[in-house]
Amino acid sequence: MIRLQGISKKFGDKAVLEDIHATFLPGKVNMVIGASGSGKSVLMKTMVGLVKPDAGQLFYQNLELGEMDVDQRNELRQKIGMLFQSAALFDSLTVLDNLLFPLRMFRPAPKAEMQERVAYCLERVGLAGTENLFPSELSGGMKKRVGIARAIVLEPQFLFCDEPNSGLDPKTSIRIDHLIQDITNEFQITTIVNTHDMNSVLECGDHIVFLYKGRKTWEGDRRLILNSDNEPLNELVYASRFLQQFREKAS
Ligand SMILES: Nc1ncnc2c1ncn2[C@@H]1O[C@H](COP(=O)(O)OP(=O)(O)OP(=O)(O)O)[C@@H](O)[C@H]1O
Ligand SMILES: [Mg+2]
Repeated sequence: MIRLQGISKKFGDKAVLEDIHATFLPGKVNMVIGASGSGKSVLMKTMVGLVKPDAGQLFYQNLELGEMDVDQRNELRQKIGMLFQSAALFDSLTVLDNLLFPLRMFRPAPKAEMQERVAYCLERVGLAGTENLFPSELSGGMKKRVGIARAIVLEPQFLFCDEPNSGLDPKTSIRIDHLIQDITNEFQITTIVNTHDMNSVLECGDHIVFLYKGRKTWEGDRRLILNSDNEPLNELVYASRFLQQFREKAS
């Protein structure tokens, strides 16, 4: 479980996050949604400790991130998997070495054992046998899947995915959504996904937090999101003219 209590962050005099309270539970795909610039990536970076909040507290189980000592932080680091907005693979390393990287760093073991774990993770994302390819030889969707495989190689308790399906075709996007949903459920991971893709939200948003200009102005699940009276949220949900007409007809 992850709990945010009054998280605020400014860059210069620009408030990017304002008094965010939220709880993210294990076994759920928790989604943070909002228009471009609403603060999703900054919030995610704050949660993983890459950005220090100006105010507020951030609990992993019962431990507050800012109060953890070096050992506790290192321990937490090993329980976190992260898929960055751009997949962020090491271009000069093969798929195998990209996945071995966190294992060598945090869980060194005999090579055969580590390779077995890598093969398992690649198989989970539908990329068995791609160990010797370089990132430049992969499509965008394959890179994201390698990014997910790398994020789960250490069996994380907390999985962060920043825009996991941006730039992908609808079918590949849904495949990625299902993959994230399956591993979340199977391993009871506390998963947090940033997105503005409504297909993803409706497909697997168990708990949805809506950010508007750095504030949380709505939260709920995917069944409630189509009928909220939050206007900025509706602008995101019903962004296309087609959906607006559909909504008008339905009401
Ligand atoms: N390091 C930084 N320094 C200054 N301003 C920043 C920094 N990082 C983010 N911002 C600002 O914070 C705001 C929120 O940015 P953020 O990247 O969190 O948006 P987002 O919701 O993830 O958008 P997108 O959907 O486009 O990824 C933006 O106005 C951005 O310019
Ligand atoms: Mg972002």
